Amino acid sequence: MKLQNTAKLIEQELKTVLSEDILQGEIVRPDHLMQAMRHGSLNGGKRLRPFLVLETAKSFNGSSVAALKVATALECIHCYSLVHDDLPAMDDDALRRGQPTVHIAFDEATAILAGDGLLTYAFDVLSADTTPLSAEKKIKLISSLTRASGLGGMVGGQALDLAAEKTAPDEAGILTLQQMKTGALIRYACEAGAKIGDADNFEHETMSNFGRIIGQAFQLADDLLDVTSDAKTMGKNTGKDADRGKATLVALHGADWARAKLVELAEEAKTLLHGMNRDTKILEETANFVIFRDR
Ligand code: IPE
Ligand code: IPE
Ligand code: MG
Ligand code: MG
Ligand code: MG
Repeated sequence: MKLQNTAKLIEQELKTVLSEDILQGEIVRPDHLMQAMRHGSLNGGKRLRPFLVLETAKSFNGSSVAALKVATALECIHCYSLVHDDLPAMDDDALRRGQPTVHIAFDEATAILAGDGLLTYAFDVLSADTTPLSAEKKIKLISSLTRASGLGGMVGGQALDLAAEKTAPDEAGILTLQQMKTGALIRYACEAGAKIGDADNFEHETMSNFGRIIGQAFQLADDLLDVTSDAKTMGKNTGKDADRGKATLVALHGADWARAKLVELAEEAKTLLHGMNRDTKILEETANFVIFRDR
């Protein structure tokens, strides 16, 4: 499967869940809030995390229907993280995926609530009867998504990222904050695919390490592109990290160092995959895409 095909599938799935259909237990779906949630999650995005869930699940013979649901839930969390990341109180960005950010297109309170709505929706999708997984697998996937997203994961990493604008951390500190703010959800994508399928403990551990490495590489590439690319290509403003005094490895060591490090991480990620007796060709290509992407 190609990244663009995953994007279409996820887009379709998100459109279905973010519709006017009231679910059992709901009262009313305020239209302007739903429009804001749609603005923050439809029409754009590389959909890399969903792709990783789908392709990892495939490598381990997992149900593609279940993988699509888990992928949708994860993308809801990712989109919520972007809506909040762009708020004036955080990175204060006006452009995302080539469109005005949610707080610009709507207003700040609506953007906060749209993020909250997407966050809670993720757990609705995961726990729904229509997600064809055993109760035991669902609980494991829900519990690990909570850990990857919350205080000790993405949310905690965002807090460290903002604190680092004021007090610069050392290299280990930067790696930790990046592993949390970005790495945790990417690692979750790889682990979830293994959990949906039939991975044994060694394979699960391998996918977890693979996710950790490409998660680190993904943020390093994002920080490099912030310096080397432009808004038209990226769909978001560039040159922002230096302006805000963000703690990044590119700021610390420079762009050439970052490029060399990315090559190293790509090799490390691929070596891990070769240690398993599975068809991981697409995951290998994905590692290359993550690391050498241009947007
Ligand atoms: C952007 O993530 C935020 C980071 C974690 C660096 P993506 O680059 O995956 O954003 P979209 O989903 O493609 O817009
Ligand atoms: C975002 O990191 C990480 C999360 C949203 C959790 P950045 O702040 O670097 O992402 P961009 O550059 O705004 O996409
Ligand atoms: Mg940020
Ligand atoms: Mg940002
Ligand atoms: Mg960035």
